[in-house]
Amino acid sequence: MIKYIVALIVIPIFSVHAREEFAITPISYPDISKKIDQVMLGKSLFNDPILFDNGKSCAGCHLFSYGGAFPSALGAPEQARKINVPTVFNTSLNFRWHWDGEYKSLEEHVDNTIKIESSSYDTAWELLLQRLEDNVNYKKRFKQTYGEISKKHVLNSIVEYEKALIAPSLFDDHLKGSRKLSADALRGFHKFQRYGCISCHQGKNIGGNIIVPIGVINNFFATKKPLTQIDYGHYNVTGKERHKFYFKVPSLRNVARTAPYFHDGSAESLEKAVTMMAFYQLGLALDTKDVADIVSFLESLSGDPLTELME
Ligand code: HEC
Ligand code: HEC
Repeated sequence: MIKYIVALIVIPIFSVHAREEFAITPISYPDISKKIDQVMLGKSLFNDPILFDNGKSCAGCHLFSYGGAFPSALGAPEQARKINVPTVFNTSLNFRWHWDGEYKSLEEHVDNTIKIESSSYDTAWELLLQRLEDNVNYKKRFKQTYGEISKKHVLNSIVEYEKALIAPSLFDDHLKGSRKLSADALRGFHKFQRYGCISCHQGKNIGGNIIVPIGVINNFFATKKPLTQIDYGHYNVTGKERHKFYFKVPSLRNVARTAPYFHDGSAESLEKAVTMMAFYQLGLALDTKDVADIVSFLESLSGDPLTELME
């Protein structure tokens, strides 16, 4: 119990760059009618290997059938950095992007992803813009939507699509009062709050608004040797010793569909991820009933974006 209280005091002190909003608030489907051309153009680009010159596509790594993530510990084959793929659903609700919190805007993130995942970093954009100019269909759609093809417009359409990928769940309906959680899920939500998960996984995205250490109470990497660069987290962004092993708290929305878990995919099931979190972050040994209840709650966070935005 003492360890648990220590964690609750320590977490707010240690978190960096917080955009804290403690309460979990419900989300709703966005109104995309005013930006429908931009969003649908972004959808086409997201699914089209034309964005890269090597057969990759955004959708090839962010699989909608797996909650917008990729079901493999260190990501998709031929991915630039060997790290677990996070979901693109609800991503616009985060305050930073990537596990280590590297990116501060979605535009900056898409710009760099196109460069990093293409064959050549320096010429990626020049070649992409040429491919789009040479494509009769895209040329027409960009002209109608933006007047012309440019880097700015490509980024805008993809980001508008990302912003549209909001996926409300049963839990949101529960908060709004229109549907009820099962008794198990409700108990799980109470435990999630009482045990202190909510001190990190908070706000409308149930995460995604603070960067904190992993292993607050027990060493997360005790049995992992050797560590690799991805394990250093926010240190890779700032170079500051005190940011070693700091990570953006991920959103738990859709988490039941995005196994495996953590930046290194080290938990293959949600039960294991919950058990590990309780032990490493809060110093708690949960019993199977606690874990099952919390998993039920997490399952109530699954939802899909608007059907016209799906593949
Ligand atoms: C080759 C696989 C691959 C491709 C292609 C790819 N991604 Fe990703 N994506 C990843 C990985 C891996 C990460 C996590 C990287 C990290 O945290 O270091 C990621 C992270 C993200 C994130 C951050 C999520 C968050 O909440 O932190 C978003 C958003 C995203 N990708 C969108 C896109 C879009 C849009 C495209 C196409 C322009 C794209 N991705 C192409 C593998 C890929
Ligand atoms: C001190 C802050 C903190 C606390 C407390 C905390 N978490 Fe986490 N949680 C994190 C961070 C940071 C990560 C990402 C770890 C990584 O990158 O490997 C994470 C990851 C997760 C994941 C995996 C998400 C994914 O997409 O891979 C789950 C599930 C999870 N937490 C559930 C919980 C539960 C349940 C509790 C309470 C028992 C809890 N967390 C308590 C900070 C916290």
